[in-house]
Amino acid sequence: MLSRWGHYLAGVTWIGLLYYFNFVQTPAFAQFEAPARNEAFAKLVPRAMWWFRWGAVLTVLTGISILAFQKNLDGDYMKSPAGISISTGILLALVMFLNVWGVIWRAQKQVIANAQNVLAGNEADPSIPAIARKAACASRTNTFFSIPMLFFMGATSHFFPQGDYVTTDGAKRAVYWLIVVVIVAIFEAIALSAPAVGKPQAWHIDNHRNTIIAGFVLSAVLYLLWEIFF
Ligand code: HEM
Repeated sequence: MLSRWGHYLAGVTWIGLLYYFNFVQTPAFAQFEAPARNEAFAKLVPRAMWWFRWGAVLTVLTGISILAFQKNLDGDYMKSPAGISISTGILLALVMFLNVWGVIWRAQKQVIANAQNVLAGNEADPSIPAIARKAACASRTNTFFSIPMLFFMGATSHFFPQGDYVTTDGAKRAVYWLIVVVIVAIFEAIALSAPAVGKPQAWHIDNHRNTIIAGFVLSAVLYLLWEIFF
């Protein structure tokens, strides 16, 4: 229960800030004048990013802690309907975690340093818009993934058939995982390629309305796969 409590608190901190960045900060900053934007990047964004990235670490650690204390990992849990559900959620969450530390934070460090530099009276770095676009694509992709991720987190104990020792068919599991991994890899590859706004492959990350719609469509597709195979 302590792991779960910590998981809720850390998860709210991480995903709450993710939604703040996507639905509030990015559209608002686009309307700021340059000096105000630099001031915000230098003083507001570092604080938000601190809670965001450490919230992500604590979410992963508490999630692993739920698994360690509550699940019989030596047994057939990961082959059970509940185990496949939580593994699907964890796959999405781990890709999101790698986006936070590997893409978003790495890019934001440069954007923050540039803003602090400009405030100190130096020239702006011309490579910043491309770096910021990369972070924006990863951040939108995380918002997109968060919708099915949370479905599978919650569905594990509250929707799918319960009972840790009911195992599913191995061949069906293999095909299910192949399809799920390919879908996730395609969207992650699009994020890493940082396509320009308006490109057809960027529809789901063009604006937050599209991202929300696409998130529910992806949830429906993954749930349908689950129903077909198990
Ligand atoms: C790699 C990262 C993560 C791991 C290893 C993980 C692991 C877990 C595990 C083992 C459970 C318990 C499933 C069950 O038996 O009911 C769970 C539930 C849950 N997780 Fe995660 N999780 C991760 C990321 C996230 C994220 C990012 C969120 C976002 C807020 C989240 C929110 C939840 C929620 C709401 C539940 C449902 C708890 C319940 O039904 O009591 N998790 N997670």
